[in-house]
Formats: sequence, C-alpha cells, structure tokens
Amino acid sequence: MKLYNQGATPANVTSPVSFAGLIEKIEILRSTLRWSSKLDRPEIEKLLKQATTLRDEVMGLSHKERFVQAATAEPAPQEEVERLPRERRQALMERSFIFEGTFGDNPKLLEALEIAEKAAPTDLPVLIDGESGTGKELMAKVIHANGSRTDKPFISVNCGAIPDSLLESELFGHKKGAFTGASNDRRGKFESAHTGTIFLDEIGELPLTGQVKLLRVLEAHEIQRVGSDEAISVDARIVAATNKDLRRMSQAGTFREDLFYRLSVIHVSLPALRERRDEISLLVSYFSDEAAGMLKRRPVKLTPRLRDFLMHYDYPGNIRELRNLMYRISCLAGDTADVIHLPQDIRPKPTGLLVVASGAQAVPEAVIATSLSEAKRAASDEAERAFLERGLQEVGGTVAELARRFDMNRSHLQMLLKKHGIHSKDFRGNRQAEGGKV
Ligand SMILES: Nc1ncnc2c1ncn2[C@@H]1O[C@H](COP(=O)(O)OP(=O)(O)OP(=O)(O)O)[C@@H](O)[C@H]1O
Ligand SMILES: [Mg+2]
Repeated sequence: MKLYNQGATPANVTSPVSFAGLIEKIEILRSTLRWSSKLDRPEIEKLLKQATTLRDEVMGLSHKERFVQAATAEPAPQEEVERLPRERRQALMERSFIFEGTFGDNPKLLEALEIAEKAAPTDLPVLIDGESGTGKELMAKVIHANGSRTDKPFISVNCGAIPDSLLESELFGHKKGAFTGASNDRRGKFESAHTGTIFLDEIGELPLTGQVKLLRVLEAHEIQRVGSDEAISVDARIVAATNKDLRRMSQAGTFREDLFYRLSVIHVSLPALRERRDEISLLVSYFSDEAAGMLKRRPVKLTPRLRDFLMHYDYPGNIRELRNLMYRISCLAGDTADVIHLPQDIRPKPTGLLVVASGAQAVPEAVIATSLSEAKRAASDEAERAFLERGLQEVGGTVAELARRFDMNRSHLQMLLKKHGIHSKDFRGNRQAEGGKV
C-alpha cells in the first residue's frame, strides 16, 4: 500500500507515502477545519467539502490499487489461480505471521489478515467490524502481536459495559476526591495501555459525550484524570471494534463522523461464518481437538447427518457459536455425536420419512439442503439410513442376518452402518446377537 515516486508522480514526492498516512492527514485537516474559530462558516463548509472529496478520492484509490495490481499482474495459469489462496496463506505463515487459532483459504479472511499484517507494524488506528463472534477481539490481538508493541500491554475496554457515569474515570482515571467514592488516585485504561495497545471494544456503544473526549485524546495524545488539570501524555495504539455500521451511525448522527474517520484509518472487515463456509470443516476439527484436550477425551466422531448440519447451519453467533457447539457435543456425546446432541432450539426435525398431512404422501426430508443436488444427496442419505435402521430392527440387530437378507456384502454393510453412525447393538433389544459380530 505504498505510493512511490515513479516518473508520473510529482517530482517533490520523493519518499513513499501510504494511503493510510494520506487519509489520516486529511482527517486531521478536516477536524481542524471543522472547529476553526478564525474562518467564517461558509468558508469552513467549502473547505470541508473539498477535503471530503479529496478523502473519498484517496480512499477510492487505495481500494482500486488492489484491483489494479490484480489486473496488471501476469495472467496466471488456471492451476495457479486455483492455488492462489493457499499460497497467500502459506506466504503469511512464512513471514512468521502470528495468529492464534486457525484459518484456511477463504479469500475474505485472507484479505482481512493481510490488511492486519500491513497495519500491525504501524501505529495507525484500526477499526475492526464484523458480526458478533466473528473474531474481532482475536484480530485485535493479532494486530498487537504482529506489531512492535507485542511485549507491551494490550488493554481491552468494553465500551458497552461501562455505565455512562463511570466512563470517563474508567478510560482516563481519576484524582482522589474527584467524586464520591474516589478514595484514591486511580489511573485509567489509557494510562495502563501506555506504550502498548488499547482495544476499544463495542465502540459503537460509546455515548456521544465519551466520543468527544475520546476524539480529544486521539488528537492531543494526552489525557486528564477526572478532577485533575494535569495533562498526561499517553502513547497508546488504538484498535477499535464494533458489530454496528459506524458509517451509517455517523450519517444518522449517533456516532461522530470525525471520530469514525479517525478510528477507521485502517478498516478491517471480518466475514460472517456463513460467508466463509469453506472454513467450517477446518474449525470443526480445530474446536473438536481443542474440546477433547480440555475435556481429556478422544476427539468426538460425527455422524454424516450431524456433519451435514454443521456445514449448512447459518451460525448467527458465528465462530463463537460453532465453538460452543463443538464443546457441547464433545461433552455430551460418547464416541460418536449425532444431531440429538445439538441444542433443542437448533436441532433439525427428526429425519426419515415425513408424512405430509394434506395428502398422506411420504416425502424425504432434506430440511437443510440449499441446492437441488444437496437436497437429492440428503434425501438419498436419509433413505439409506432409514432402510438400514428398519432392516436392523427387523433382524434384531444382527448384521450377518441383515447382509443375507439384503444379499449384501457384510463388510460393505458394516461400512454403511459406520458411515451413518448406526450401532447394531442398539437394535438388539432383549435378543442376543445371533451370528456375525459387528
Ligand atoms: N480463526 C479462528 N480460529 C479459532 N478460533 C477463532 C477464530 N476466530 C475466532 N475464534 C474464536 O471465536 C470466539 C469469538 O471470537 P471473538 O471474541 O474474537 O469474537 P468477537 O467478534 O469479538 O465477538 P463479539 O462481537 O461477540 O465480542 C473466540 O473464542 C475466539 O477465540
Ligand atoms: Mg468481542
């Protein structure tokens, strides 16, 4: 993300200038203009308009740059195009990119990680947005861990969890006697984060009064404890996160536009899990291993029906929800987990053949299929499962007898039972198994 003096650029631009640096300068100019007391209002408005246009152009350019680079790159053979995401991930790893957790080849996430990697060594403010549970806090830690402040404090503040009356004291500290209950001098989160990073979580919840104070700190790099006149300089790198649309909020007047631009010099957007389904199976095994380690058990096996559910579920709570599901399943299931181990409210309806009330006509249930081919596969899986279960029921759980009856190879039959997580012993009832072992 650098602009170099390459002939076409003006002669006086000799050093590389980053888009982010330019945007930050324009933002500072806009804030200064906005509060100028020496200019007339119409003059301010005119200059602000020009600065806004300039900022939007630079922002547009910074976005375009990636496309231009992609478009001017040597056309890659088809195989390489397909290999590209894996190479991008590999390259991040090779550059010793520090990342707790796991990630695969999803282009949206790779893009977020690459932006984070570039932003990390700078001290520029970063705004991370994404739905709840998409990994915003994890990303903030990634930025901290990959920067020069990694061995300095990482201080997290949940702006949505502090009552308005305590906000200022929490962020900036207070002097003894500043208010009832202030029995000692106390430093705030900003001072604690000095030389490190302050993570302002749920920044969209910050009330307008808090926003004004935060803006002042960002501009002056100094704070005042509540009840004190002394200015204390702080050097804290700002990373903020939100699951709200701050741009829309600033247009609606509930979030200060100048603060929004100040915070979002670098903007990292995290995709919802349903937009990166290609990562689900990776995350399932990651959390299954993690839960197994924590619960001191072997990683749980999943029936195809449960795996299918996990691959297609919508995950309103994103990665956190998937993680919790895997912990729950690992705790409740024996060797193999099935949909029965899912929480009741998200569990798919019982599988098998559904009877449609109106015409008493049997239809296969493919409740979670999202395409025709998936629906067909799910229906065929279900028919196979129901067939095997009914057969086992009839033969009292004796696999050898079932194989004879269906004229099937016994090991193939066993393989099918395994695929569906069906245990023949569950069908034995009071009868002893006759013949073959399972
Ligand atoms: N790529 C990943 N690999 C492994 N675990 C992950 C990954 N991304 C997120 N997580 C895990 O998912 C959970 C939610 O992540 P995190 O708390 O960072 O989300 P968030 O966006 O801050 O959520 P909220 O908006 O609710 O505060 C955490 O347990 C985190 O460790
Ligand atoms: Mg969070």
